[in-house]
Amino acid sequence: MQTVDANGAKIPALGLGTWKLSGRHCARLVQQALRLGYRHIDTAEMYENEREVGEGLRASGVRRDEVFITTKVWSTHLAPGELARAAKDSLAKMRLSDVDLLLIHWPNPRVPLAETIAALCRMKQEGYARHIGVSNFSAALMDEAIKFASEPLVTNQIEWHPFIDQRTLVAACARHGLSVTAYSPLAKGKTVANDILSTVGMNYGKNGGQVALRWLLQQGAIVIPSTSKVERLSENMAVFDFELTPEEMAEIATLATPTGSVRE
Ligand SMILES: NC(=O)c1ccc[n+]([C@@H]2O[C@H](COP(=O)([O-])OP(=O)(O)OC[C@H]3O[C@@H](n4cnc5c(N)ncnc54)[C@H](OP(=O)(O)O)[C@@H]3O)[C@@H](O)[C@H]2O)c1
Repeated sequence: MQTVDANGAKIPALGLGTWKLSGRHCARLVQQALRLGYRHIDTAEMYENEREVGEGLRASGVRRDEVFITTKVWSTHLAPGELARAAKDSLAKMRLSDVDLLLIHWPNPRVPLAETIAALCRMKQEGYARHIGVSNFSAALMDEAIKFASEPLVTNQIEWHPFIDQRTLVAACARHGLSVTAYSPLAKGKTVANDILSTVGMNYGKNGGQVALRWLLQQGAIVIPSTSKVERLSENMAVFDFELTPEEMAEIATLATPTGSVRE
């Protein structure tokens, strides 16, 4: 699996998103994804599926040290004691001694950022997280977080797909050596049948969703598409055997609009 290097972390460029997956179905999808070659799983306290993610990992037979596991602390648990408790609860649910990446899921203006970031850094120093980072942070908030951090932040996980313009934030991450993890990279499925993306895909025997993932990967992003269907896991992974031309990259970039977010 191709990896992205960021501030000391080596992050598999494609992972399985698990939001909205639950119960035995979640465990089965994680297990199957890992058997197919996925090496990165994205979960969160808020998804209420960490137990099943751990079960899927163990059922897959893939060694723990071959899989990159990300989880996130929810925004109501950002006071220092709360953060440590939430992170340790996540580990207990997954039955893991550490995660590869621990993120602040969303900023919370009611808790001083300096305290949250200090607590996050302690999770790394105490061995509960190999790497730490943020999610849904603006460029300004990311600058602040970096100033407070005694450990390197390795990613900002943000909504990114061809329909949303994230050039400013992506450039800010690059300036600080942070990777960008693109969530909702398929624009919640809307990329799959998009006319322009599908037309580009015809050159390579790919669908619009695969073109969207490739477009992100070629800009150095990490992508974490999700699906509830086992049969789509392979399709969403088949994005490393073709390369978009500079002209195609530029054409796809014209799809972004100010209202392109697909967030619910
Ligand atoms: N940090 C954050 O705040 C945040 C926010 C949102 C998401 N995330 C993370 O990012 C992950 C992915 O984002 P997302 O779930 O919002 O959206 P997404 O991955 O862009 O899209 C998922 C949707 O696309 C459909 N889909 C997937 N593969 C397909 C295929 N090959 N053909 C046709 N349709 C396909 C899925 O339907 P089916 O299930 O029917 O296949 C599902 O409805 C999440 O699971 C989560 O881990 C993080």
